[in-house]
Amino acid sequence: MKKKVFATALAAIVTVLALVGCGNAASDSSQATNGTLIVGTNAAFPPFEYVGDDGKPDGFDIALIKAIGEKIGMDVQVQDMEFDSLVSSIGGKIDVAIAGMTVTEERKQTVDFSDSYYEAVQAVIVPKGASIATADDLKNLKIGVQLGTTGEFIADEIEGASVSAYNKAVDAVNDLNNGRVDCVIVDKNPAEVFGTQFSDKVDVLPGTNFNFEPEHYAIALPKGNTDLAGKINNALKELKEDGTYDKLVSQYIEE
Ligand code: ARG
Repeated sequence: MKKKVFATALAAIVTVLALVGCGNAASDSSQATNGTLIVGTNAAFPPFEYVGDDGKPDGFDIALIKAIGEKIGMDVQVQDMEFDSLVSSIGGKIDVAIAGMTVTEERKQTVDFSDSYYEAVQAVIVPKGASIATADDLKNLKIGVQLGTTGEFIADEIEGASVSAYNKAVDAVNDLNNGRVDCVIVDKNPAEVFGTQFSDKVDVLPGTNFNFEPEHYAIALPKGNTDLAGKINNALKELKEDGTYDKLVSQYIEE
């Protein structure tokens, strides 16, 4: 008898959990189905995203997601937030994220990714004339990174390194210029932008010198929303075919 009560209770719990699960799934996609796509980004990562002269997020990623929105018939609303909270906000505060975000196995536990739209690699920013050239030279250094990024994950693996993580990549570069860190590990294109901005103070070294692996940027999507994923991937394919993608690359990245 006791066993039966237990089984019934268990069945009830399972049902409730299943219903709660469904409820979430429905609200996850509700914003994305009412014609507006709420897109999270971290607008401090030029040339992919930055705050434009009009105070609004601009950059390659922003232009790309707007073009995707047009293709799929949705209004795009961009929300600027900390990079570190993007993944956990998907399906809640935001529908999707575009933020020069690298596809990683760890993130894939929480979100799905669109097809990749850009290949990148980490780079190392060093003070001008520093004697840092190979992976071995990074050992035991003070390394600046942006919080929650693949640059941070790489730095954490370097023997003896003490890693300082900043909310914005540029703050890591500022601390490099103040002598508080010895180098900064950040994605190649922003590294080049910072390299130009502080050309009298820093050099930018390619990640290949340090055996860093290629990374693939993609749009992060709510887990299991295959409908939205399909639409975004189709739009991406069309934008590549009709030349819009190349136009945006030359407009924003290879100026
Ligand atoms: N590609 C790196 C990553 O996915 C860094 C991205 C940082 N993006 C940003 N908008 N701040 O971890």
